[in-house]
Amino acid sequence: MEKPITLFDRRFELYIPEPVIHTAISDVAARINRDYAEAVRPLLLVTLSGAIVFAGELFRQLEGPFEIAFVKVSSYGAETTSSGRVAVEVPPTAAVEGRDVIIAEDVVDTGHTIHALHAMLAEQGARSIRVATLLLKPDPYYRQPERPEPLPVDYAALEAEPRFIVGYGMDYDGLGRNLGALYAVCDEERHD
Ligand code: PRP
Repeated sequence: MEKPITLFDRRFELYIPEPVIHTAISDVAARINRDYAEAVRPLLLVTLSGAIVFAGELFRQLEGPFEIAFVKVSSYGAETTSSGRVAVEVPPTAAVEGRDVIIAEDVVDTGHTIHALHAMLAEQGARSIRVATLLLKPDPYYRQPERPEPLPVDYAALEAEPRFIVGYGMDYDGLGRNLGALYAVCDEERHD
C-alpha cells in the first residue's frame, strides 16, 4: 500500500495508478483515430489548465491532420454549482467554424463546463462537437436536476467516484497537477 501524499493541509491516497492511466488514454486515442480517419483538419480543443497533461499525451497519439488549440473558461458566482454559470476567459485560440472539434477535459464533474463550451462552439459554427475526458464522474454528471438531457461524453478514459481528485493535471489550489497518478482525498475528507 502506497503512503498517502500531503498537499497543503490535506492527505490524498493513490486512486488510479499511472500504468492504468496510460492504457486508458491509448484506448481513447485508438477510438478517436478510428472515428476521425476521414476527418479534414479536426481540432482538439484543450480546456486550460487542467486538461493539458491528458491532452498532451492524447494528442501525441492522434494520427492524421489533427490540430490543437486552447480555451479557458471558469465557473463563477456564489451559486456556481446549481446555476452552472461559466465565463469564457480565453476564447478558442483557433477558428472553429466548419471544424470537427473534440473538447479535451481533465474531468467532467457537474458538466457545466462542457455544456457551456458546447453551446459556444455550436454558436461559432463548429461542424461537429465531441468530448474527450480523462475522468468522468457519472454520479454528479447524470444527477444535475435542471438538465434532463446531458450531452454524451463520447470518450471517457476513466470513471471516478465523486471524490476530490488530484494529479495528472488536476490540482488542489495549484498543487498536484504534476503528479503522474491520480490521488483521491483521504476518506475522512470526502468531498461529495
Ligand atoms: C475543472 C476542470 C473542468 C471543470 C469540470 O476546471 O478542468 O474544466 O472543472 O467541472 P464541471 O464538469 O463541474 O464543470 P477548473 O475550473 O478547476 O480549472 P483548472 O482546469 O484550471 O484547474
